[in-house]
Amino acid sequence: MTRPTVYIETYGCQMNVSDTELMLGKLTASGYDAVDGPDGADVILVNTCAIRDHAEQRVIGRLGELKRHMSPTAVMGVTGCMAQRLGPVLLQRTPHVSIVIGPDGYRALPTLIDDARHGIRTTATSFDMEEHYEDFKPRRFDKVKAWIPVQRGCDYRCTYCIVPYTRGPERSRTLADVVRETESVVADGMSEVVLLGQTVNSYSDGTYDFADLLRAVGGVAGIRRVRFTSPHPNDFSDRVIEAIAATPTVCEHVHLPMQSGSSRTLKRMLRRYTREGYFECAERLRAAVPNLALTTDIIVGFPGETDEDFAETLSAVREVGFDDAYTFKFSMRDGTPATRLPVELLVSDEVASDRLAQLIAVVREGSRARNMAHLGSRCEVLIEKEARRGGLLQARTRDFKTVIMPGTPDMIGNYVEVALTGTTGSTFTGAVVRSREPLPMQ
Ligand code: SAH
Ligand code: SF4
Ligand code: F3S
Repeated sequence: MTRPTVYIETYGCQMNVSDTELMLGKLTASGYDAVDGPDGADVILVNTCAIRDHAEQRVIGRLGELKRHMSPTAVMGVTGCMAQRLGPVLLQRTPHVSIVIGPDGYRALPTLIDDARHGIRTTATSFDMEEHYEDFKPRRFDKVKAWIPVQRGCDYRCTYCIVPYTRGPERSRTLADVVRETESVVADGMSEVVLLGQTVNSYSDGTYDFADLLRAVGGVAGIRRVRFTSPHPNDFSDRVIEAIAATPTVCEHVHLPMQSGSSRTLKRMLRRYTREGYFECAERLRAAVPNLALTTDIIVGFPGETDEDFAETLSAVREVGFDDAYTFKFSMRDGTPATRLPVELLVSDEVASDRLAQLIAVVREGSRARNMAHLGSRCEVLIEKEARRGGLLQARTRDFKTVIMPGTPDMIGNYVEVALTGTTGSTFTGAVVRSREPLPMQ
């Protein structure tokens, strides 16, 4: 008998990508073959994001499209944050969907799929404080770097954010389990890991904190690059910053979400730091790690954001000097504390769009200036994949810059030294100076 097939389509953050890898691992171990497209698949899963309304609308549209690819016996399921948020409502609204599973319910996937084959439609949206899918062997997409979830859920309550409600309370895996997974990643031929958590630097397994984790993972034989995302500014203890500085494999890049440069707005967002507190955090990191690259997330149009508040965000972007920023228009999420702010505080879409455009221009100007300063320098890159254009390769510096360079696909996974020869303002072009392996003596 041929094995049934499963196709998973993934939306949202790296946490979802990592969850998809776990689900595929579980399902392939349970007798399924993974396929690259929906046509003819016996099981179609859509792993969803609920962070902004736009993300959910895209999924709703896509569910309709996917229906046309379904064979009459296929089973369709919705997983992830939107599944958690909408639960049974999704089953009601989309009759061709028979399984709705939140982020803590993936252990039951094979059973629920079997049930669905027999016509039983289910919603599974309980949180499970013990669940880390420790016994699942992830089926990784990336051949060069591995996502390693170290923490699930979030205990902050930023007033705009749906994540605490879709992912539940914060919990951490044990350090020993994370180290074991890191070792298995090395055994599979990879040397870069990205530690994942919603506020990853608040990691604590009861005995060890994030500083211990960085040192332990960074010290695993065969690991050359350690990254982590996303930290919260308030959880950068001196211990964590010292561990970053003292662990050579930890890369010189921190993604440090700022959200706003106005203390008034930050307070209404319940970010628990001020403009000055954020600057201080950035300075402490830069003092400890020379040539640190900083990237960030920023929201415009949060309720009550005035022109003056927004001007403070622009000046903060200039003052900190970010290497790059992800910028978003505020999106009101049902059930979040922001829904209780007075309606007269709402910022119109027109104003928010205008602010977003201004912010993007200032971010670009800043990152171009910082990148121009790197031109002509040499650095080590890890070659990640083929570039989208014309026979070139795409590589990354330790400080997370993208470098497009000539080379052949057999070089993927190698470390080489390049000279940065040009920049578009955001990405670089590079030329190989020498391979990183020691050159034979002449
Ligand atoms: N845990 C991470 C962020 C996860 S969500 C952290 O605390 O930094 C990723 C980004 O989406 C956030 O940093 C924020 O900038 C943005 N975001 C979250 N909720 C949003 C909303 N309701 N509207 C617009 N952007 C939002
Ligand atoms: Fe959302 Fe705030 Fe938690 Fe990040 S820290 S996931 S923004 S609630
Ligand atoms: Fe989206 Fe859930 Fe990640 S809401 S951003 S997929 S944690």
